[in-house]
Amino acid sequence: MKKLVTAHDLTFEPFISSSDIAEKITELGKKITEKYKGKRPLFLGILNGSFVFIADLVRACDLECEIAFIRLSSYKGVKSTGKIETIYGFEINLENRHVIVVEDIVDSGRTLNYFMETLTEKKPASVELASLLLKPDALQFPIKIDYLGFEISDKFVVGYGLDYDGLCRNLKGIYQLKETP
Ligand code: IMP
Ligand code: MG
Repeated sequence: MKKLVTAHDLTFEPFISSSDIAEKITELGKKITEKYKGKRPLFLGILNGSFVFIADLVRACDLECEIAFIRLSSYKGVKSTGKIETIYGFEINLENRHVIVVEDIVDSGRTLNYFMETLTEKKPASVELASLLLKPDALQFPIKIDYLGFEISDKFVVGYGLDYDGLCRNLKGIYQLKETP
C-alpha cells in the first residue's frame, strides 16, 4: 500500500488495506449467498462510488443474480434541508424483485434515506442494503445496513471507488485524510 497519496491540495494516509477489504467482502458474500439461494437478487449499485465494491461483492456471491446501476444527484447546499435532485437510470422494473442496494459509504444517510423510500414505491419483493463503510458519528437519518464492511470515524476517506473531487477512485485500498500537524 502506498505510504501517502496526494490529490489536488490534500494528502491521504493508508487506512484500510486491500487485503482487509477483500477478507471482509468474502464474509459479506457468504452471508448474502446463504440468504438469497434460489432467489436471483438484483444488486443495485449507486454510482459512482459503489462501482468497485459492487464488482467485488457480486463475485464473492455464489448466486444467480443481476446487476444494475442508478445515479443519484444530491443537493447538499443546506445541510438540514438537503434533498435529492435527480435520479438517472431508474426506469428499471423492480416489481417483485429481491433488491440489494449497494453503496460505498453512508455518511449523513440523507441520500439513502430518501432513496430507500422511493424504492418501496416500485413494489420490490424485498429490499436490503449493503454498504462498505459507515460513519456512525455523522449519521443524521435512520438507515438500516444489512451488510456492512467497516464502521469508521467521521473523517474524509478516498480510494476503492471513493473520490476526492473526482480523483483517487482507482486506489486499491482506502486512505484517510492526513491531519496537518
Ligand atoms: P450522505 O447522503 O451524507 O450519506 O452521503 C453519502 C455520499 O457522500 C456517499 O455516497 C459518497 O459519495 C459521499 N461521501 C460521504 N463521505 C465521504 C468520504 O469520506 N469520502 C468520499 N465520499 C464521501
Ligand atoms: Mg456514493
